Amino acid sequence: MILAVGNIKGGVSKTTLAINLAIALSREDSDVLLIDGDELATAMAFTSLRTSARNGRGPGYTAVALHGANLRTQARQMAAKYSDIVIDVGGRDTGSLRAALTVADIVLVPLEAPQLRPLGSRADPQSPGNQPRTAGLCRHQRSGPAELPHGRRQPSSRLGN
Ligand SMILES: Nc1ncnc2c1ncn2[C@@H]1O[C@H](COP(=O)(O)OP(=O)(O)OP(=O)(O)O)[C@@H](O)[C@H]1O
Ligand SMILES: [Mg+2]
Repeated sequence: MILAVGNIKGGVSKTTLAINLAIALSREDSDVLLIDGDELATAMAFTSLRTSARNGRGPGYTAVALHGANLRTQARQMAAKYSDIVIDVGGRDTGSLRAALTVADIVLVPLEAPQLRPLGSRADPQSPGNQPRTAGLCRHQRSGPAELPHGRRQPSSRLGN
């Protein structure tokens, strides 16, 4: 499965989500590749820190920095080698974001929603803890889309609907 985390907005937790997903998936015994498609390379920087902190055990996943058309080509080639590929991209409309969108099975779009809070809770706009983050989810149709009534397309059965 290729999973991309992207948004044209910066600072909405894309990298945080991508690296946590890579770690969570690697704990399920899968061969995980984390692709850092952001020129700022924050996912690569995190991976270096994690490697240092784990005393030589490695980060638990493979990380590589790829951009633009090269990201698309390499992700397609490496999809057969890895159980899961997680792609992090920068918070702008870039070639890397577009490449990630074209190869991903699932696209997660983190959104900042500071106006939302659990029902009944007290809002403290000054507190970052009261600014929950939410994520949108897109599932890509990669093969054989079936037509539904009214011309709507059925989500891929492989992705569990
Ligand atoms: N769920 C969360 N709750 C509170 N803070 C968070 C959460 N997720 C991330 N942050 C913090 O928000 C900041 C931005 O997170 P992150 O770097 O993951 O965003 P980004 O979308 O990747 O940013 P960029 O567009 O610069 O790549 C960081 O300081 C991070 O620690
Ligand atoms: Mg980031």
